[in-house]
Amino acid sequence: MIKDLFIGLSKNQLLNQAAKKYGLRLGAQSVVAGTNLEETMKSIKELNSLGISCTVDNLGEFVFERSEAIKAKEQILKAIDMIHTNQLDAHISLKATQLGLDIDYDFCLNNLKEIVEKASNYHMFINIDMEDQSHLQPSFDILDELSKEFDNVGTVIQAYFYRAEEDLQKYKNFRLRIVKGAYKESGEHAFQEKQEIDANFIKLIKWHLLNGKFTSIATHDHRVINQIKSFVKEHKIPKEKFEFQMLYGFRKELQFGLAKEGYNFCTYVPFGEDWYGYFMRRLAERPQNLKLVASQVLNK
Ligand code: FDA
Repeated sequence: MIKDLFIGLSKNQLLNQAAKKYGLRLGAQSVVAGTNLEETMKSIKELNSLGISCTVDNLGEFVFERSEAIKAKEQILKAIDMIHTNQLDAHISLKATQLGLDIDYDFCLNNLKEIVEKASNYHMFINIDMEDQSHLQPSFDILDELSKEFDNVGTVIQAYFYRAEEDLQKYKNFRLRIVKGAYKESGEHAFQEKQEIDANFIKLIKWHLLNGKFTSIATHDHRVINQIKSFVKEHKIPKEKFEFQMLYGFRKELQFGLAKEGYNFCTYVPFGEDWYGYFMRRLAERPQNLKLVASQVLNK
């Protein structure tokens, strides 16, 4: 029920527009690195100093105007330049809808090409985040096109989809982030029960660790992390073949702890004015995150 409420709120375009005007509010400032690139570079530098690398996401949703998609592209190109100039240990995560997938496929593909090409000159990786089911196949199609020319691009496998195992096998030679899946999907396409999703998540991670190129294990679930720690030990999987990932601001102790233990760790660092949908999806995943909201509001 609560999950549905927050997923519904995340798609509300009026609230989304209003949130852009008022800056980071409602506790979002603890899970969004900043509204501009300067603040974000500072956060990345701090994380790098703790031995943590970053994947940087210029937040944005509901892009239906070409001018907005171009603005997003320019901002991402600027982020790539700033990461390079500041010699930061960071790469980019992006969403195809922000770059025009809902406007025109070729327009979106060309925007992505420009980004991937620029990053490729700096040997920087670009991750195509995965969105809801309606954007899944077009996002894979874009990846197919890009990978004909570039090798610095990869994507995400969402374990709640029935097709996830097949996609994983098809894309095993890519650097892949494996997640449980954040959107509300129907039983026609996705597992609905938490236990089924968790079981598939672990199965896919293990398969990719044994057979794939590089695995980003993206979860805040300490039970999954502990199982994977035992698995990599048992199978002597070298640390260079995988990393753990978590979102900025969540379970910081666990993030710093894993990095200290010597695991590769990468924090997903979202930034920008368009924080609202992202923040609502985090509340949908874990209503306890409302505690963050309460503490921020009370501290005002
Ligand atoms: P989940 O929410 O299932 O919680 C499992 C258990 O972990 C909880 O019961 C609790 O014990 C513990 N736990 C979780 N969060 C906690 C917290 N904050 N504090 C204390 N304990 C906590 N999704 C998508 O569809 N497309 C994408 O591209 C991405 N990308 C992405 C990148 C990164 C870096 C991450 C971490 C996640 C994503 N996701 C995503 C989101 C992902 O699909 C998923 O919705 C969330 O990670 C929530 O699932 P978890 O596995 O983290 O734990």
